[in-house]
Amino acid sequence: MISNIQNALLAWFAKHKRHLPWRREPRDPYHVWLAEIMLQQTQVATVIPYFERWLTHFPSLAHLAQASQDDVLKRWEGLGYYSRARNLHKAAQMVQNEQAGQIPNTVAGLLALPGIGRYTAGAIASLAFGQDAAILDGNVKRVVSRLYALPAASDDELWQHSESLLPAGRAGEFNEALMDLGATICTPRAPTCAGCPLKPHCIAYTKGAPEAYPAPKVKKAIPHKNLVTLLCRNQNAQFLMRQRPRQGLLGGLWEFPSEEIFDLPQPPRLPSDAPILALAAGLMGQLVSENASANLRYIGLVKHAFTHFRITRHVVFADQVQPTLHPENYRWVSADDITKLALTKSDLRILELLNSMSVVSSQIDRS
Ligand code: ADE
Repeated sequence: MISNIQNALLAWFAKHKRHLPWRREPRDPYHVWLAEIMLQQTQVATVIPYFERWLTHFPSLAHLAQASQDDVLKRWEGLGYYSRARNLHKAAQMVQNEQAGQIPNTVAGLLALPGIGRYTAGAIASLAFGQDAAILDGNVKRVVSRLYALPAASDDELWQHSESLLPAGRAGEFNEALMDLGATICTPRAPTCAGCPLKPHCIAYTKGAPEAYPAPKVKKAIPHKNLVTLLCRNQNAQFLMRQRPRQGLLGGLWEFPSEEIFDLPQPPRLPSDAPILALAAGLMGQLVSENASANLRYIGLVKHAFTHFRITRHVVFADQVQPTLHPENYRWVSADDITKLALTKSDLRILELLNSMSVVSSQIDRS
């Protein structure tokens, strides 16, 4: 009986719910929305400090709507999937300008905003506005797949189950209970079925192998790219930085100029690998009209994994470069001011590498 499942889960939740900052009562729809966007690709423990810092900086939707995109990206720096921040910013401006600052309280209204899909709309509508809306994220998919022992159910099927389980009038509470069960008990590996309120109803448990549901997807090989990255420093101790195009991967973020290497001689050797230095010199020739290849040092490499590919950035330091004209999306920035820009995660790591290089930092200190 569905009502037994509902009652068991709600009773468990009353005792074991997680007390999270976005769950403070009374619910603030802006807080709920922000949390759902941050949580789309990021773990709760990582989100909490970002969430709290964000609200000190943008305490209301109106503050967010008025902010510059650069400021918004800086506050998101390190969370990844930056289109979430750009869309949230755009959506805040739409709500502020077109809807008198009132966040839509229905799934349909929420779906009309950028960055809000069916899951997020259901979560905001149920958690912030008490609407009877279902949700389906990775955790809920796993709980439902196990409850009904479905090895490879389609999303449509899983949505139907999530909708049919919903207790009218208590959807927000029930959805949070599903989230918490998925995060703390019904985990991907080694679920703690002994403490699970749904154990008596769970077909996967009855069959003896809850972990087998849903069946693991076959993972595709992840492509890998090598990049040469240029730390180009002028006589005023400024570095040449580049802002990525506003649209696309890491859009609007700042980085040290880089270029893909197609034929990497394996394995490159620090600090004077000739092919890497030649590529760096070529990139430098495009950016600053000077041949300073004598001053190039290959100082290290930084690896980073995106969802669909991995990169290795081979970092080359070029000192005492003459500042000259450069393309519009480039800027000379002092070492101190670099951290004021919103940087990609691998550029933050490159900055650490730069700071840890005694030879480089002593050169910086002297100037
Ligand atoms: N994951 C997605 N949304 C969440 C929420 N509101 N609380 C905890 N974990 C979540």
